[in-house]
Amino acid sequence: MFTKLLVLSLLSGSILSDKVRYDNYTLYKVQPEREEHVAFLKDLFEADDGLDFWKPPSVVGEYVSVVAPPEMRAEFELALNKRSISSELMLENIQEAFDAQVVSRRKRESSRELFWTNYQTIEDIYDWFNYLAETRSDIVSVVTIGQSYEGRNITGIKIARGTGKKAFVLEGGQVGADWLSPTVLTYLVDQLVKGTDAEARAASEDFEWHIFPIVNPDGHQFTQDSVRLWVKNRRPTTRTTIGVDLTKNWNSQWGIIGGSFTPAASNYIGLGPFSEVETRSLARYIEGIGPNLVGFLSLRSFGQRLLVPFAHSSVPMYNYQDVLTVGRRAMGSLSVRYGTLYITGTSRLVHSGNTGAAEDWVKHRFNPPISAAYLLRDTGSWGYTLPVNQVLPTCEETFDSVMAIIREAKFINIL
Ligand SMILES: *[C@@H]1O[C@H](CO)[C@@H](O)[C@H](O)[C@H]1NC(C)=O
Ligand SMILES: *[C@@H]1O[C@H](CO)[C@@H](O)[C@H](O)[C@H]1NC(C)=O
Repeated sequence: MFTKLLVLSLLSGSILSDKVRYDNYTLYKVQPEREEHVAFLKDLFEADDGLDFWKPPSVVGEYVSVVAPPEMRAEFELALNKRSISSELMLENIQEAFDAQVVSRRKRESSRELFWTNYQTIEDIYDWFNYLAETRSDIVSVVTIGQSYEGRNITGIKIARGTGKKAFVLEGGQVGADWLSPTVLTYLVDQLVKGTDAEARAASEDFEWHIFPIVNPDGHQFTQDSVRLWVKNRRPTTRTTIGVDLTKNWNSQWGIIGGSFTPAASNYIGLGPFSEVETRSLARYIEGIGPNLVGFLSLRSFGQRLLVPFAHSSVPMYNYQDVLTVGRRAMGSLSVRYGTLYITGTSRLVHSGNTGAAEDWVKHRFNPPISAAYLLRDTGSWGYTLPVNQVLPTCEETFDSVMAIIREAKFINIL
Protein backbone atom coordinates (compact mmCIF):
# COMPACT_ATOMS: atom_id res chain seq x y z
CA MET A 1 0.00 0.00 0.00
CA PHE A 2 2.82 2.35 0.89
CA THR A 3 4.31 2.02 -2.57
CA LYS A 4 0.99 2.23 -4.34
CA LEU A 5 0.01 5.29 -2.40
CA LEU A 6 3.27 6.81 -3.39
CA VAL A 7 2.79 6.03 -7.05
CA LEU A 8 -0.69 7.56 -7.06
CA SER A 9 0.43 10.74 -5.42
CA LEU A 10 3.40 10.97 -7.74
CA LEU A 11 1.10 10.78 -10.72
CA SER A 12 -1.13 13.50 -9.37
CA GLY A 13 1.90 15.57 -8.47
CA SER A 14 0.59 16.41 -5.04
CA ILE A 15 3.51 14.79 -3.34
CA LEU A 16 5.82 17.58 -4.33
CA SER A 17 4.06 19.99 -2.05
CA ASP A 18 2.80 17.63 0.66
CA LYS A 19 4.79 15.78 3.20
CA VAL A 20 3.70 12.20 3.67
CA ARG A 21 2.84 11.62 7.34
CA TYR A 22 3.30 8.47 9.40
CA ASP A 23 0.88 9.06 12.26
CA ASN A 24 0.45 5.92 14.35
CA TYR A 25 2.72 3.87 12.09
CA THR A 26 4.41 1.35 14.38
CA LEU A 27 7.96 0.01 14.28
CA TYR A 28 8.59 -3.67 15.04
CA LYS A 29 11.68 -5.73 15.52
CA VAL A 30 10.88 -9.30 14.50
CA GLN A 31 13.06 -12.31 15.31
CA PRO A 32 12.65 -15.24 12.92
CA GLU A 33 13.88 -18.37 14.70
CA ARG A 34 13.05 -21.00 12.10
CA GLU A 35 13.08 -21.38 8.32
CA GLU A 36 9.26 -21.17 8.22
CA HIS A 37 9.44 -17.82 9.97
CA VAL A 38 11.85 -16.46 7.40
CA ALA A 39 9.74 -17.85 4.57
CA PHE A 40 6.58 -16.24 5.96
CA LEU A 41 8.29 -12.87 6.39
CA LYS A 42 9.69 -13.09 2.89
CA ASP A 43 6.18 -13.67 1.56
CA LEU A 44 5.01 -10.56 3.38
CA PHE A 45 7.95 -8.61 2.05
CA GLU A 46 7.32 -9.67 -1.51
CA ALA A 47 3.56 -9.13 -1.29
CA ASP A 48 4.40 -5.45 -0.79
CA ASP A 49 0.91 -4.60 0.48
CA GLY A 50 1.53 -1.96 3.07
CA LEU A 51 4.32 -3.05 5.38
CA ASP A 52 7.53 -1.10 4.99
CA PHE A 53 10.63 -3.19 5.65
CA TRP A 54 13.60 -1.18 6.90
CA LYS A 55 15.52 -4.39 7.18
CA PRO A 56 14.06 -7.17 5.05
CA PRO A 57 14.10 -10.82 6.13
CA SER A 58 17.31 -12.63 5.24
CA VAL A 59 18.26 -15.65 7.35
CA VAL A 60 17.20 -17.43 10.54
CA GLY A 61 18.36 -15.51 13.61
CA GLU A 62 18.78 -12.19 11.80
CA TYR A 63 16.19 -9.67 12.96
CA VAL A 64 13.76 -7.90 10.65
CA SER A 65 12.83 -4.27 11.07
CA VAL A 66 9.39 -3.39 9.78
CA VAL A 67 6.89 -0.55 9.94
CA ALA A 68 3.13 -1.22 9.91
CA PRO A 69 0.51 1.42 9.07
CA PRO A 70 -2.19 1.72 11.74
CA GLU A 71 -4.83 -0.15 9.71
CA MET A 72 -2.55 -3.18 9.36
CA ARG A 73 -1.27 -3.33 12.89
CA ALA A 74 -3.78 -5.77 14.39
CA GLU A 75 -3.66 -8.11 11.43
CA PHE A 76 0.13 -8.12 11.39
CA GLU A 77 0.46 -8.87 15.10
CA LEU A 78 -2.10 -11.64 14.80
CA ALA A 79 -0.25 -13.21 11.88
CA LEU A 80 2.99 -13.22 13.85
CA ASN A 81 1.33 -14.64 16.96
CA LYS A 82 -0.36 -17.41 15.02
CA ARG A 83 3.04 -18.58 13.80
CA SER A 84 4.78 -18.02 17.15
CA ILE A 85 7.16 -15.53 15.62
CA SER A 86 8.51 -13.34 18.37
CA SER A 87 8.50 -9.63 17.88
CA GLU A 88 8.92 -6.47 19.87
CA LEU A 89 7.01 -3.23 19.42
CA MET A 90 9.80 -0.64 19.30
CA LEU A 91 7.84 2.54 18.56
CA GLU A 92 4.11 3.26 18.74
CA ASN A 93 4.19 6.25 16.44
CA ILE A 94 7.13 6.87 14.17
CA GLN A 95 5.78 10.28 13.11
CA GLU A 96 6.52 11.59 16.61
CA ALA A 97 10.06 10.32 16.34
CA PHE A 98 10.47 11.96 12.93
CA ASP A 99 9.04 15.24 14.23
CA ALA A 100 11.72 15.23 16.92
CA GLN A 101 14.38 14.71 14.26
CA VAL A 102 13.68 17.73 12.10
CA VAL A 103 16.73 19.16 10.47
CA SER A 104 17.46 22.60 11.78
CA ARG A 105 18.71 24.80 9.03
CA ARG A 106 21.64 26.86 10.09
CA LYS A 107 20.91 30.53 10.26
CA ARG A 108 22.38 32.20 7.22
CA GLU A 109 23.60 35.26 9.03
CA SER A 110 25.41 33.32 11.73
CA SER A 111 28.74 31.57 11.36
CA ARG A 112 29.31 29.03 8.63
CA GLU A 113 30.30 26.36 11.13
CA LEU A 114 28.48 23.04 11.17
CA PHE A 115 27.11 21.41 14.33
CA TRP A 116 26.80 17.73 15.17
CA THR A 117 23.93 17.96 17.60
CA ASN A 118 21.52 17.64 14.72
CA TYR A 119 21.11 16.17 11.26
CA GLN A 120 22.40 18.34 8.40
CA THR A 121 21.06 19.52 5.05
CA ILE A 122 22.84 19.15 1.71
CA GLU A 123 22.93 22.92 1.37
CA ASP A 124 24.60 23.41 4.74
CA ILE A 125 27.12 20.65 4.14
CA TYR A 126 28.13 21.95 0.70
CA ASP A 127 28.26 25.51 1.95
CA TRP A 128 30.54 24.40 4.77
CA PHE A 129 32.78 22.56 2.31
CA ASN A 130 33.17 25.78 0.33
CA TYR A 131 33.91 27.65 3.54
CA LEU A 132 36.63 25.11 4.44
CA ALA A 133 38.09 25.37 0.96
CA GLU A 134 38.30 29.15 1.37
CA THR A 135 39.69 29.20 4.89
CA ARG A 136 41.90 26.11 4.71
CA SER A 137 42.91 26.17 1.09
CA ASP A 138 46.33 24.86 2.14
CA ILE A 139 44.90 21.41 2.87
CA VAL A 140 41.31 21.31 1.60
CA SER A 141 39.73 21.31 -1.83
CA VAL A 142 36.16 20.73 -2.94
CA VAL A 143 35.56 17.98 -5.49
CA THR A 144 32.41 17.66 -7.56
CA ILE A 145 32.33 14.27 -9.26
CA GLY A 146 29.13 14.70 -11.22
CA GLN A 147 25.45 15.48 -10.98
CA SER A 148 22.60 13.35 -9.76
CA TYR A 149 19.68 12.49 -12.04
CA GLU A 150 17.87 15.67 -10.94
CA GLY A 151 21.00 17.73 -11.46
CA ARG A 152 22.26 18.15 -7.91
CA ASN A 153 26.00 18.18 -7.42
CA ILE A 154 27.59 15.10 -5.92
CA THR A 155 30.24 16.91 -3.99
CA GLY A 156 32.93 15.82 -1.62
CA ILE A 157 36.05 17.16 -0.08
CA LYS A 158 39.69 16.28 -0.43
CA ILE A 159 41.95 16.72 2.57
CA ALA A 160 45.71 16.39 2.29
CA ARG A 161 48.15 17.84 4.79
CA GLY A 162 51.17 15.94 3.52
CA THR A 163 52.56 14.97 0.17
CA GLY A 164 51.71 11.25 0.42
CA LYS A 165 49.51 9.92 -2.34
CA LYS A 166 48.05 6.93 -0.52
CA ALA A 167 44.33 7.57 -0.37
CA PHE A 168 41.27 6.80 1.71
CA VAL A 169 37.83 7.17 0.17
CA LEU A 170 34.83 7.48 2.49
CA GLU A 171 31.27 7.76 1.29
CA GLY A 172 27.76 7.86 2.69
CA GLY A 173 24.23 8.94 1.96
CA GLN A 174 23.52 6.30 -0.68
CA VAL A 175 20.18 5.69 1.07
CA GLY A 176 17.82 8.68 1.12
CA ALA A 177 16.24 7.82 4.47
CA ASP A 178 19.66 7.54 6.11
CA TRP A 179 20.38 10.97 7.54
CA LEU A 180 23.04 9.68 9.89
CA SER A 181 25.94 8.75 7.62
CA PRO A 182 26.27 12.20 5.98
CA THR A 183 26.47 13.81 9.40
CA VAL A 184 29.00 11.30 10.70
CA LEU A 185 31.17 11.90 7.63
CA THR A 186 31.19 15.67 8.09
CA TYR A 187 32.36 15.07 11.66
CA LEU A 188 35.28 13.04 10.32
CA VAL A 189 36.04 15.87 7.89
CA ASP A 190 36.04 18.32 10.78
CA GLN A 191 38.43 16.20 12.83
CA LEU A 192 40.83 15.71 9.93
CA VAL A 193 40.83 19.38 8.99
CA LYS A 194 41.17 20.71 12.55
CA GLY A 195 43.89 18.22 13.34
CA THR A 196 43.79 18.90 17.07
CA ASP A 197 43.55 15.19 17.79
CA ALA A 198 47.03 13.74 17.32
CA GLU A 199 45.86 10.63 15.48
CA ALA A 200 43.56 12.62 13.20
CA ARG A 201 46.41 14.95 12.42
CA ALA A 202 48.74 12.06 11.60
CA ALA A 203 46.02 10.47 9.46
CA SER A 204 45.66 13.67 7.46
CA GLU A 205 49.44 13.82 7.00
CA ASP A 206 49.89 10.17 6.02
CA PHE A 207 46.97 9.90 3.61
CA GLU A 208 44.86 11.85 1.15
CA TRP A 209 41.22 11.77 2.22
CA HIS A 210 38.37 11.87 -0.29
CA ILE A 211 35.05 12.13 1.54
CA PHE A 212 31.62 12.10 -0.15
CA PRO A 213 28.84 12.45 2.41
CA ILE A 214 25.82 12.43 0.06
CA VAL A 215 26.09 10.10 -2.90
CA ASN A 216 22.30 10.21 -3.38
CA PRO A 217 21.43 13.92 -3.03
CA ASP A 218 18.06 13.58 -4.81
CA GLY A 219 16.90 10.84 -2.46
CA HIS A 220 18.17 12.79 0.53
CA GLN A 221 16.36 15.96 -0.49
CA PHE A 222 13.18 13.98 -1.18
CA THR A 223 13.20 12.58 2.36
CA GLN A 224 13.48 16.10 3.73
CA ASP A 225 10.72 17.55 1.54
CA SER A 226 8.21 14.75 1.03
CA VAL A 227 8.66 11.10 1.92
CA ARG A 228 10.83 10.62 4.99
CA LEU A 229 11.28 6.91 4.30
CA TRP A 230 12.42 7.12 0.68
CA VAL A 231 15.42 4.86 0.09
CA LYS A 232 16.29 4.99 -3.61
CA ASN A 233 17.51 7.66 -6.01
CA ARG A 234 14.90 9.61 -8.02
CA ARG A 235 15.32 8.46 -11.59
CA PRO A 236 12.09 7.32 -13.25
CA THR A 237 12.55 3.65 -14.08
CA THR A 238 9.19 2.94 -15.75
CA ARG A 239 6.17 5.09 -16.53
CA THR A 240 4.93 4.71 -12.96
CA THR A 241 7.98 3.89 -10.86
CA ILE A 242 10.91 5.87 -9.60
CA GLY A 243 14.28 5.03 -8.23
CA VAL A 244 16.99 2.44 -7.77
CA ASP A 245 18.55 1.26 -4.50
CA LEU A 246 22.11 2.48 -4.99
CA THR A 247 23.56 0.22 -2.30
CA LYS A 248 22.92 -2.77 -4.57
CA ASN A 249 23.78 -1.18 -7.92
CA TRP A 250 27.57 -1.71 -7.88
CA ASN A 251 29.29 -4.11 -10.21
CA SER A 252 30.13 -6.90 -7.79
CA GLN A 253 28.02 -10.03 -8.13
CA TRP A 254 25.15 -7.67 -8.99
CA GLY A 255 21.71 -9.23 -8.54
CA ILE A 256 23.00 -12.52 -7.13
CA ILE A 257 21.72 -12.20 -3.54
CA GLY A 258 19.17 -9.78 -2.04
CA GLY A 259 17.52 -6.83 -3.72
CA SER A 260 14.62 -6.89 -6.13
CA PHE A 261 14.27 -6.94 -9.90
CA THR A 262 10.87 -5.26 -9.55
CA PRO A 263 11.06 -1.52 -10.32
CA ALA A 264 8.38 -0.61 -7.77
CA ALA A 265 10.25 -2.25 -4.89
CA SER A 266 12.16 -0.08 -2.45
CA ASN A 267 15.19 -2.32 -2.92
CA TYR A 268 15.09 -2.38 -6.76
CA ILE A 269 18.65 -3.00 -7.92
CA GLY A 270 18.34 -1.35 -11.37
CA LEU A 271 18.57 -2.67 -14.90
CA GLY A 272 22.20 -3.59 -14.54
CA PRO A 273 25.31 -2.81 -12.53
CA PHE A 274 26.08 0.91 -12.57
CA SER A 275 22.80 1.71 -14.30
CA GLU A 276 22.65 4.85 -12.12
CA VAL A 277 24.58 8.06 -12.63
CA GLU A 278 25.27 8.40 -8.90
CA THR A 279 27.06 5.06 -8.51
CA ARG A 280 28.78 5.52 -11.88
CA SER A 281 30.12 8.96 -10.93
CA LEU A 282 31.68 7.77 -7.71
CA ALA A 283 33.05 4.61 -9.34
CA ARG A 284 34.69 6.69 -12.06
CA TYR A 285 36.26 8.95 -9.45
CA ILE A 286 37.62 5.98 -7.52
CA GLU A 287 39.02 4.57 -10.78
CA GLY A 288 41.02 7.79 -11.01
CA ILE A 289 42.64 7.10 -7.65
CA GLY A 290 43.23 3.51 -8.69
CA PRO A 291 46.33 1.87 -7.21
CA ASN A 292 46.85 4.71 -4.70
CA LEU A 293 43.70 3.63 -2.89
CA VAL A 294 44.53 1.96 0.43
CA GLY A 295 41.23 2.30 2.24
CA PHE A 296 37.55 2.47 1.36
CA LEU A 297 34.79 2.90 3.91
CA SER A 298 31.10 3.00 3.07
CA LEU A 299 28.82 4.35 5.81
CA ARG A 300 25.07 3.80 6.06
CA SER A 301 22.32 3.20 8.59
CA PHE A 302 21.65 0.91 10.37
CA GLY A 303 22.52 -2.34 12.21
CA GLN A 304 25.83 -1.88 14.11
CA ARG A 305 27.85 -4.06 11.80
CA LEU A 306 31.19 -3.70 10.11
CA LEU A 307 30.81 -5.60 6.84
CA VAL A 308 33.95 -6.88 5.14
CA PRO A 309 34.10 -8.40 1.63
CA PHE A 310 32.52 -10.43 0.20
CA ALA A 311 28.75 -10.62 0.55
CA HIS A 312 28.31 -13.52 -1.85
CA SER A 313 30.68 -15.94 -0.20
CA SER A 314 31.66 -17.28 3.18
CA VAL A 315 34.97 -18.53 1.78
CA PRO A 316 37.79 -16.27 3.02
CA MET A 317 39.08 -14.23 0.09
CA TYR A 318 41.94 -11.77 -0.38
CA ASN A 319 43.17 -10.60 3.05
CA TYR A 320 39.97 -11.59 4.82
CA GLN A 321 41.64 -12.75 8.06
CA ASP A 322 43.66 -9.55 8.38
CA VAL A 323 40.67 -7.34 7.73
CA LEU A 324 38.60 -9.32 10.21
CA THR A 325 41.30 -8.82 12.84
CA VAL A 326 41.57 -5.10 12.15
CA GLY A 327 37.80 -4.74 12.07
CA ARG A 328 37.20 -6.55 15.35
CA ARG A 329 39.85 -4.57 17.17
CA ALA A 330 38.59 -1.30 15.73
CA MET A 331 35.03 -2.12 16.76
CA GLY A 332 36.44 -2.79 20.24
CA SER A 333 37.76 0.76 20.19
CA LEU A 334 34.38 1.99 18.97
CA SER A 335 32.67 0.49 22.01
CA VAL A 336 34.95 2.16 24.56
CA ARG A 337 33.25 5.55 24.62
CA TYR A 338 29.55 4.61 24.89
CA GLY A 339 29.46 0.82 25.01
CA THR A 340 28.02 0.53 21.48
CA LEU A 341 28.58 -3.02 20.24
CA TYR A 342 29.31 -3.82 16.61
CA ILE A 343 29.69 -7.21 14.98
CA THR A 344 32.35 -7.64 12.29
CA GLY A 345 32.08 -10.11 9.45
CA THR A 346 30.99 -10.71 5.88
CA SER A 347 27.51 -9.57 5.04
CA ARG A 348 26.63 -13.18 4.40
CA LEU A 349 27.64 -14.19 7.93
CA VAL A 350 26.50 -11.22 10.01
CA HIS A 351 23.91 -9.37 7.94
CA SER A 352 21.77 -9.79 4.84
CA GLY A 353 24.29 -11.05 2.28
CA ASN A 354 23.11 -8.49 -0.27
CA THR A 355 25.45 -8.33 -3.25
CA GLY A 356 26.20 -5.38 -5.51
CA ALA A 357 27.60 -3.28 -2.64
CA ALA A 358 30.27 -0.59 -3.00
CA GLU A 359 32.77 -2.13 -0.57
CA ASP A 360 32.75 -5.39 -2.51
CA TRP A 361 33.22 -3.67 -5.85
CA VAL A 362 36.16 -1.64 -4.53
CA LYS A 363 37.78 -4.71 -3.00
CA HIS A 364 37.42 -6.76 -6.15
CA ARG A 365 38.48 -3.94 -8.45
CA PHE A 366 41.50 -2.52 -6.57
CA ASN A 367 42.15 -4.85 -3.65
CA PRO A 368 43.09 -2.11 -1.17
CA PRO A 369 44.14 -3.49 2.24
CA ILE A 370 41.00 -1.99 3.81
CA SER A 371 37.53 -2.05 2.30
CA ALA A 372 34.48 -2.24 4.54
CA ALA A 373 31.02 -0.89 5.23
CA TYR A 374 29.71 0.49 8.48
CA LEU A 375 26.09 -0.07 9.30
CA LEU A 376 25.78 2.66 11.94
CA ARG A 377 23.48 2.84 14.98
CA ASP A 378 21.24 1.23 15.97
CA THR A 379 19.93 -2.36 15.92
CA GLY A 380 16.29 -1.61 15.21
CA SER A 381 15.08 0.24 18.30
CA TRP A 382 14.84 3.47 16.35
CA GLY A 383 16.25 2.65 12.94
CA TYR A 384 15.86 5.66 10.67
CA THR A 385 14.15 7.58 13.49
CA LEU A 386 17.34 7.68 15.58
CA PRO A 387 16.93 10.67 17.94
CA VAL A 388 19.16 13.70 17.53
CA ASN A 389 20.73 13.18 20.94
CA GLN A 390 22.46 10.10 19.50
CA VAL A 391 23.97 11.95 16.55
CA LEU A 392 27.08 13.34 18.26
CA PRO A 393 27.81 10.11 20.18
CA THR A 394 27.61 8.19 16.89
CA CYS A 395 30.00 10.67 15.28
CA GLU A 396 32.49 10.38 18.12
CA GLU A 397 32.56 6.62 18.41
CA THR A 398 32.76 6.18 14.63
CA PHE A 399 35.69 8.60 14.49
CA ASP A 400 37.42 6.62 17.26
CA SER A 401 37.00 3.45 15.24
CA VAL A 402 38.28 4.91 11.96
CA MET A 403 41.43 6.02 13.76
CA ALA A 404 41.64 2.53 15.27
CA ILE A 405 41.36 0.92 11.83
CA ILE A 406 44.46 2.83 10.75
CA ARG A 407 46.31 2.03 13.98
CA GLU A 408 45.49 -1.68 13.87
CA ALA A 409 46.19 -2.01 10.16
CA LYS A 410 49.59 -0.40 10.66
CA PHE A 411 50.22 -2.67 13.62
CA ILE A 412 49.86 -5.79 11.49
CA ASN A 413 51.69 -4.14 8.58
CA ILE A 414 48.93 -4.05 6.02
CA LEU A 415 48.92 -0.27 5.76
C1 LIG B 1 -3.47 7.90 16.52
O1 LIG B 1 -3.91 7.10 17.59
C2 LIG B 1 -4.49 7.85 18.64
C3 LIG B 1 -4.77 6.91 19.80
O2 LIG B 1 -5.40 5.75 19.36
C4 LIG B 1 -5.74 8.55 18.11
O3 LIG B 1 -6.34 9.31 19.13
C5 LIG B 1 -5.32 9.46 16.96
O4 LIG B 1 -6.49 10.05 16.40
C6 LIG B 1 -4.57 8.69 15.88
N1 LIG B 1 -4.05 9.66 14.94
C7 LIG B 1 -4.26 9.55 13.62
C8 LIG B 1 -3.75 10.68 12.77
O5 LIG B 1 -4.79 8.59 13.10
C1 LIG C 1 28.06 22.47 -8.71
O1 LIG C 1 29.44 22.25 -8.85
C2 LIG C 1 30.05 23.14 -9.78
C3 LIG C 1 31.49 22.69 -9.96
O2 LIG C 1 32.14 22.56 -8.73
C4 LIG C 1 29.91 24.57 -9.25
O3 LIG C 1 30.51 25.47 -10.14
C5 LIG C 1 28.45 24.89 -9.07
O4 LIG C 1 28.30 26.16 -8.48
C6 LIG C 1 27.76 23.88 -8.19
N1 LIG C 1 26.34 24.10 -8.19
C7 LIG C 1 25.66 24.31 -7.07
C8 LIG C 1 24.20 24.51 -7.23
O5 LIG C 1 26.19 24.32 -5.98
